[in-house]
Amino acid sequence: MIVVMTTLERAEAAERAMSQELDRVVVKSVLFTSGEQDPTKPVPRPPDRGKLYMMGPDPRLPRMPEKPTLLDFFKYRFAPANHLLQSARLAQKSGASEKIILACLLHDIAIAGFIRSDHGYWGAQLLEPYVDEEVSWAIRYHQALRFFADESAGYRYPDMYVKLFGPDYKPEPYIERAYLDARQHKWYMTARLICVNDLYSFDPNVQVRLEEFTDIVGRNFRQPKEGLGFDGSPTAHMWRTIITPTKYL
Ligand SMILES: [Fe+2]
Ligand SMILES: [Fe+2]
Repeated sequence: MIVVMTTLERAEAAERAMSQELDRVVVKSVLFTSGEQDPTKPVPRPPDRGKLYMMGPDPRLPRMPEKPTLLDFFKYRFAPANHLLQSARLAQKSGASEKIILACLLHDIAIAGFIRSDHGYWGAQLLEPYVDEEVSWAIRYHQALRFFADESAGYRYPDMYVKLFGPDYKPEPYIERAYLDARQHKWYMTARLICVNDLYSFDPNVQVRLEEFTDIVGRNFRQPKEGLGFDGSPTAHMWRTIITPTKYL
């Protein structure tokens, strides 16, 4: 008998094989599978066969140092981060301040290593305890500003968005409200400059090294001595979740 597997069945079989190789059972967070699986139905569980559940570092992921720095997150969780590095380089070349360069370097870290949906808000929240308020504010608002041109600042609506979302796409009302609020704000230009340096048409051959920004990060990011995730800040748990995203509890 020939058994034809659907793509989903093949993915599930591969996943079962993978979790059999691991000596711990991994149950994915609902957020990881929501959409592929119906979140109103019970979460399917891999067979545990008496194995213990994952309660620490996932062996499939690069191990993080005990007291991780922001640059460790770039190396082990956000790599290759070309988009971020190239944005920061572009800002630097235009003579932007260190605050702006840092904001460009960090503007999409939520996409690079955490959650894509509403990435500006997640990224800003993650960073808030560690950066100047203006930097996190700008990162939060760049998400909305990206959808609205400001020719006087040298920012056009991205052609890429027409390709990605179609010519008729309209941002949701909360995004439009955020844009209108930002326009009135004293830090409007900071968020706008993230957009100006936020290009998709980078030369893929240009390699920017993370180390080029070590000093700017050192001067502008309050690295906790206990390591990100372990300093008791209001967002420490978010950094820990990036370190161990498959922990059972
Ligand atoms: Fe973004
Ligand atoms: Fe971006």
